[in-house]
Amino acid sequence: MVNWPTIRAHFPGISCGTYLNTASIGLIPDVSISALENFIRQRCFGNIFWLEWYSALDDIRTHVSRLINANYEEIAFVQNTSMGLNLIANSINWQSGDNIVINDLEFPTNVFPWQVVAKRYNLELRCVRNVNGMLRKEDFEKVVDERTKTIAVSWVEFGNGFVNDLRFLSKLAHENGALLVVDGIQGVGALKIDVKAMGVDILVCGFQKWLLGIGSGFLYIDENVLGDLKVPFAGWLSDKDPYAFDFREYEPASGAKRFELGSPSFADALVARESLRFIAGIGIENIEKRDLELISYLRKRLAELDRVIFMTPEGTLSPILTFKLEGIDTKSLLEYLLERNIYVSVRLGALRVSPHFYNNAGDIDRLLNALIDFSKSSRQKICRK
Ligand SMILES: Cc1ncc(COP(=O)(O)O)c(C=O)c1O
Repeated sequence: MVNWPTIRAHFPGISCGTYLNTASIGLIPDVSISALENFIRQRCFGNIFWLEWYSALDDIRTHVSRLINANYEEIAFVQNTSMGLNLIANSINWQSGDNIVINDLEFPTNVFPWQVVAKRYNLELRCVRNVNGMLRKEDFEKVVDERTKTIAVSWVEFGNGFVNDLRFLSKLAHENGALLVVDGIQGVGALKIDVKAMGVDILVCGFQKWLLGIGSGFLYIDENVLGDLKVPFAGWLSDKDPYAFDFREYEPASGAKRFELGSPSFADALVARESLRFIAGIGIENIEKRDLELISYLRKRLAELDRVIFMTPEGTLSPILTFKLEGIDTKSLLEYLLERNIYVSVRLGALRVSPHFYNNAGDIDRLLNALIDFSKSSRQKICRK
């Protein structure tokens, strides 16, 4: 059994008040903070520790591949989710008239790169529209055809936490000769993912949210897909032989590493390595169970209130819950919560609450009490049913 109070004590950020905003940015455990402090002390000495820092990328490959059930060679360290998606959008061998399937719940970073390549290569963008916050299988089936080259989706949607069925989408993509490209940032680190079992071709994920890092991210490319991707950019670290500094012909490094172009942010990498170790120490199954328990407790407590409108579809299994209180201005409510050091976000004009395993039922109770107090002080009251 995991001792959650002990785990919580590893997060100095908990002292800020009530932090329920991991979908925006996660907290960082003390061990990762120490890794960062150690880095800056070492960095005073120029390049002496370079190889040691660089080895963090290989450790990240090991941890990430275990976390998502991929192979070591299939993981690259990238600047951020946006860069990972852009690298992929610029690697696919587009033919004029191909189409890309996106949807209207995506974060802009999984829309804009596709718009750019669509213009450049004369591709068609097909958008699946959500129905009551859900992306329905039948609506994907209607737009995917043999000219579809990519279905681009988030695993967990950032606004309302809706979880896409990746097994279904990969089957649909593969039956039509398309790739399934997934933005995993709102799920990986909170929920268990198995890219092989789910048939995900490409997964991109930043470290800064559920993986408890500062920034940067990883790119997973299935080994069977790598050969079909063009090399979009090249740099010294993406070459087969990075330390041969002679003038020569570029040869891409083997595996996904060819997408790592130049000097990485070691601060990000060293923190990510430590946080991934920390997560592995707890176990992703335990984390998933804990996160889903916290979110269902939140849903249950909210359902006890009058006039709650859930934007997150019922039955959603993710650590994001978005809701409005009928007749209450969400922005004023957010300000009221911030004044009380309760941290959540506004998305889709509603409050988005996103607890992670370092939270507890007390945090959720504090949020609920504040919602009730706010309603008492505002003219339009919400009350217990
Ligand atoms: C779904 C989604 N993708 C990507 C990002 C962030 O992208 P990046 O890592 O490039 O900042 C966010 C949130 O900031 C997000 O919610």
